[in-house]
Amino acid sequence: MKIILLGPPGAGKGTQAANIVDTYGVPHISTGDIFRKNIKEGTELGKKAQEYINQGKLVPDELTCGLVASRISEDDCKDGFMLDGFPRNIFQAEYLNKYLTENNVALDKVINIEVDSELLIERACGRRICKNCGATYHIKFNPSKKDGICDVCQSALTQRPDDNEETVSQRIQVYLSETKPLVDYYTEKNVIANINGNQDINKVFEDIKAALA
Ligand code: AP5
Repeated sequence: MKIILLGPPGAGKGTQAANIVDTYGVPHISTGDIFRKNIKEGTELGKKAQEYINQGKLVPDELTCGLVASRISEDDCKDGFMLDGFPRNIFQAEYLNKYLTENNVALDKVINIEVDSELLIERACGRRICKNCGATYHIKFNPSKKDGICDVCQSALTQRPDDNEETVSQRIQVYLSETKPLVDYYTEKNVIANINGNQDINKVFEDIKAALA
């Protein structure tokens, strides 16, 4: 199963990616997570990426495309993978298309999670993440059992530095101008499934499973 998860910031890509991994066992490749890991480890890539991420801008294509190609060429991706947050503009989509064609790989589905724009800021700004295991919560829509503590590993929950109102608004603008055109791009390729992401988390996953069936 080769899948792309598409959608604006806060749409629920990471949340549904966790459900997809649990059910289908495909490797989850999130460019945002890869950049955040590099920032935490203080690598050169992390230092460069941080500048852009903190401003809500896209990390340049030359830092992004190669790392995705190298990740999907690894052994565990032979039978499938799920890209979350890549591609994010037409250049990245063309790059991926060329890479997949050259390697005789076909995409099975692009899952496009659609959410009304007025919900996105509340979703992103209310998000809390476990520093230790990466589990995602929301203070209102998906709270942890104990305030500020992860249900899975009991570690402290934290907020992403780019989850403030100003940066999320900028990320939404970038999504509209650079990423949203990919909906038409993949519609033309006949691989897209549009999912109503305004619904409850479990209902969204039911619709995703139906689209992947
Ligand atoms: P990235 O990490 O990819 O962030 P994003 O695309 O902005 O998406 P988010 O992680 O904010 O949201 P999500 O859709 O995963 O939502 P979630 O499931 O957490 O990218 C971060 C940055 O890295 C970018 O800005 C850019 O700088 C850089 N970058 C990454 N990839 C790049 C690329 N390819 N090229 C260049 N730069 C790149 O849900 C959000 C919240 O809502 C959670 O709290 C959740 O609990 C809640 N929630 C989820 N679903 C529902 C629901 N149905 N109902 C109610 N609440 C819900």
